[in-house]
Amino acid sequence: MSHLLKAGVAKFYLKTMGCQMNEHDSEVMVGILRNLGYERTDEVEEADLILYNTCCVRENPERKVYGHIGAFKALKEKNPNLVIGICGCMPQQSDEREQIINKLPHVDLIFGTHNIHRLPELLERAVSGERVIEVWDESTGIVEDLPVQRSNNLKAFVNIIYGCTNFCSYCIVPYTRGRERSRLPEHIISEVSALASEGFKEVTLLGQNVNAYGKDLETAFDFSDLLMRLNEIEGIQRIRFTTSHPRDMKDKLITTMAEYSKVCEHLHLPVQSGSNDVLRRMNRGYTRKYYLDLVDKVKKAIPDISLTTDLIVGFPGESDQDFEDTLRLVEEVGFSSAFTFIYSPRKGTPAAKMPNQIPEEVKKERIYRLIEVQNRISADIMKKYVGKEVEIFVDSTQPESDLVSGRTRTNIQVSFSGNPQLVGQFVTVKVTEAQTWSLKGKLLS
Ligand code: SAH
Ligand code: SF4
Ligand code: F3S
Repeated sequence: MSHLLKAGVAKFYLKTMGCQMNEHDSEVMVGILRNLGYERTDEVEEADLILYNTCCVRENPERKVYGHIGAFKALKEKNPNLVIGICGCMPQQSDEREQIINKLPHVDLIFGTHNIHRLPELLERAVSGERVIEVWDESTGIVEDLPVQRSNNLKAFVNIIYGCTNFCSYCIVPYTRGRERSRLPEHIISEVSALASEGFKEVTLLGQNVNAYGKDLETAFDFSDLLMRLNEIEGIQRIRFTTSHPRDMKDKLITTMAEYSKVCEHLHLPVQSGSNDVLRRMNRGYTRKYYLDLVDKVKKAIPDISLTTDLIVGFPGESDQDFEDTLRLVEEVGFSSAFTFIYSPRKGTPAAKMPNQIPEEVKKERIYRLIEVQNRISADIMKKYVGKEVEIFVDSTQPESDLVSGRTRTNIQVSFSGNPQLVGQFVTVKVTEAQTWSLKGKLLS
């Protein structure tokens, strides 16, 4: 490859936007690029390859991509060998792809979410001067055994199910990631076993809806069965997962979470809205009461549970009353934290064509109110930790201080003064101080 013929080593700059699926895809791309002899750089100026792994779930991040990539035109003029690539979810949408092709003529390489394993060939063609555009509409199956360069050597993301077939009326993901495809249990189990033998202690199982795991497999093997098997793997001490769809959250999973020791007491359970009418038009497949009953069951079975959620304000037709219903639900559940979003119309989704789109000022006013309420609740929940002893998996040091930090099983960050050599270990910490989303503590063991 001509990049590699230059003096020194070829360098790539990779920017990742969006969810953990994208983060994990980026880890695969880093693995592939390393195998090709590329080295990573954080400086766009010195890169031979600039790659943006994009998200299109909302409009704002999408805008940013056009801004950033537009600005790279000058770099390309200085260095004609520079390859600029866009991949991920944006190119999966045909309208967006056309825009990239037409508005960003200096982009040399465009591919999608289904053909990441083709990167070596696509890149080679781009490096030799061709403008390469290859996006697949559907996956042709799951490609196993791609190289992965994980961004961390203690905690790993592991995909268990790809795609989403829920078609929530506001969401673009089913169009960019294709239908649900579960990985075979043996592939997941052997990946996690290999991670354990490399020294990883924590895994986060990934999917847009992990609770649907196994539905498409030929043998009866569901998400709970998977958790039970992974719980046996020696060396792995914590198992997390995201995201769970409330509709598919079965009692069996609640029991499994309660009974299997490595499965952490944290559940990310996006509710989106507290109004029955909005939930129905979102096509979420559950009611407010169903969700609250589910939360009750989870709290009873797992008393230490920390619940987190995603919320959308300003969905088409959302009335003041609907919004108040969301606020009330938030109060009733008591989420440790919430990702709050302003509804963003996505072309090609049913909600974008619904009447009564909400004016921007109303959406903003609602999100501010929601954030205010949620912050107060988060702060209250954090205060309850003060004085408690918690198990922390130490995962990082804090620059320019004697502090190290890690997370509780409930996924709350705690920092405390300690030796950097504690990174990678499980310690007991007494919580001394609460902040809005994190805690401070004192090392006990
Ligand atoms: N599969 C996950 C969520 C994936 S997208 C789930 O269903 O739980 C992450 C979050 O982005 C969603 O939960 C939703 O809150 C938000 N989101 C998705 N589409 C959106 C849109 N068009 N406008 C605003 N927020 C959106
Ligand atoms: Fe989007 Fe709904 Fe699928 Fe989540 S479950 S990715 S919100 S369609
Ligand atoms: Fe975004 Fe694609 Fe994830 S649209 S949220 S990066 S699946």
